[in-house]
Amino acid sequence: MTLSEVESLPKHVAIIMDGNGRWATEKGLSRTAGHQAGLESLKTIVNRSIQVGIEILTIFAFSSENWERPKSEVNSLLNLFLGALENEFHTLHENGVKLSFIGQIDAFPDDIQTKMKTAEESTKNNTSILLNVAANYGGRWDIQRAVQKICRKIESGIINAKDIELDLISKNLCLATLPEPDLLIRTGGEKRLSNYLLWQLAYTELYFCDTKWPDFSIAEFDKALHYFLAVERRYGGVPQKAGVEYSN
Ligand code: FPP
Repeated sequence: MTLSEVESLPKHVAIIMDGNGRWATEKGLSRTAGHQAGLESLKTIVNRSIQVGIEILTIFAFSSENWERPKSEVNSLLNLFLGALENEFHTLHENGVKLSFIGQIDAFPDDIQTKMKTAEESTKNNTSILLNVAANYGGRWDIQRAVQKICRKIESGIINAKDIELDLISKNLCLATLPEPDLLIRTGGEKRLSNYLLWQLAYTELYFCDTKWPDFSIAEFDKALHYFLAVERRYGGVPQKAGVEYSN
C-alpha cells in the first residue's frame, strides 16, 4: 500500500519550519539565503502533501515574536513573502492550492496585505489542498482575540456567559471550524511549541526532528507521516485504530 492509499493519513498537518538560519550559517551563507532555501522546501512539501492526499497544511511562516529579529532579517523575510506571493502564486493556483492567511495580517505593509487578500480571493474555490499560512501569528493572541469576540457577543446580549462551550471558543479562533491538526512537525531540533496553535494542538501528535527545514525532503516528510501512522490515537479514551501496514 502506498501512502496515498492509506486512509488514516493525517487530514491536517501543522508545521514549524525551523532551522533556516542555522542551515545557512553552517554553509557560510546569509540567513536570507536560508529562508529562500526554506521556501524551496515548502514548495516540495506542499506538492508531496497534495500527492498523498493531505487536506490541510498549516505552516508557521512568521510568528508575532519574529518582529524582534534584526530589522534587516525582518525586511528580507517580508521581501521573501512578497516575492513568493508574486512568483509562486500562479503555480500554487494551477496546482489547486487554496490559500489562507491567519494572524495579525494588518501589521504587514499594504502591498503584502493586498497580495494576500487577492491570493485568498482568487484561490477560494481550489480543492487540492488548503494551505493556511500563519503570518504574524501567535497562539496566545489567537485565544485573546477569541475571548474578545465572545465578550462582545455577551455585551451585546447575543449570548450569556453560560453559553460558552468549548466549541464556541474553537469557532472563534483563526482556524474556526476546520478540523484540528492531527500531526505537528517541528524541524530544526527544538522541542517546543513556540506559541503556535496552542488551543488547536491539544490532541495533536507531535513529531520533532533534527533536520533543518531547508533539508526537510520528501523522504523526511514521509518519515513523519509513517510516525503518525504507527501511533494509536486515544484522545484520552480507548485505541482508535490498530497499526497499519504501508510502504512508500
Ligand atoms: C524559522 O527558522 C523560520 C522562519 C522564521 C521563517 C520561515 C519562512 C520560510 C520557510 C519561508 C516561507 C515562505 C513563505 C512565503 C510562506 P529560523 O530563522 O528561526 O532558523 P534558526 O532557528 O536556525 O535561526
